[in-house]
Amino acid sequence: MVNLQNVCFGYTNGKPVIDNLSINIEDGAYLSVIGENGSGKSTLIKLILGFYKPSAGKISIETDRIGYVSQRIGNFNNKFPITIYELLYCHLRAIKCSDKNQILLALNMVGMESYRNKLIGNLSGGQIQRIFIAKALLGNPQLLIFDEIFTGVDEKTQIEINDILTKINKEGITILAVDHNLNNVYKNSSHILKLINGRGIIYNKETFMDKEASYASI
Ligand SMILES: Nc1ncnc2c1ncn2[C@@H]1O[C@H](COP(=O)(O)OP(=O)(O)OP(=O)(O)O)[C@@H](O)[C@H]1O
Ligand SMILES: [Mg+2]
Repeated sequence: MVNLQNVCFGYTNGKPVIDNLSINIEDGAYLSVIGENGSGKSTLIKLILGFYKPSAGKISIETDRIGYVSQRIGNFNNKFPITIYELLYCHLRAIKCSDKNQILLALNMVGMESYRNKLIGNLSGGQIQRIFIAKALLGNPQLLIFDEIFTGVDEKTQIEINDILTKINKEGITILAVDHNLNNVYKNSSHILKLINGRGIIYNKETFMDKEASYASI
């Protein structure tokens, strides 16, 4: 689904943030990306999304139907007077999709259908995350990319959202998720990429867990 060959990228100071990275994300995989703050996780995602261009190497993606939820930014203006339905409708138009039924279907998938006429500012943090996931589901994406969507979300809601994501993945949609919570990672992923200074390789989950356990026992 996504293939990176010897990809390099750095911001202006010349230090490589993604350092000769070669990975292949299989169709239907649930890849969790982990790594310390500053290891390059969000940068990798932005390269895959095409926000940045690699300084060397090649990125190929099999689909242009990609849903994305960005890492939560502190200054998100949730006081903006817009209803959930309106927000999703705006996005549907932005992606040039005319099927309004998708709005209720997406809200239904994240268990938020009854909130459709509520203002975004009246929702809790966890509910807003569900709405952002619904937004990413519009347009029948083949690839979903989530950057730390669980920050500030309580454990119960994390479990509920994880169940939703697992269900979506079982329907064949490839998921790439940055997540710091190893319980989530070990429960949901099929594959794991641990980035260390912009480098890493993809392991299948079982191999990764065995490897980490053997380090821990040294
Ligand atoms: N727009 C930018 N301009 C310059 N440097 C940046 C920019 N965005 C990120 N960086 C730097 O690139 C490195 C990787 O940042 P990135 O946001 O990809 O890390 P991350 O793994 O997502 O971290 P976190 O877990 O904190 O979200 C960091 O050293 C960061 O300071
Ligand atoms: Mg990040």
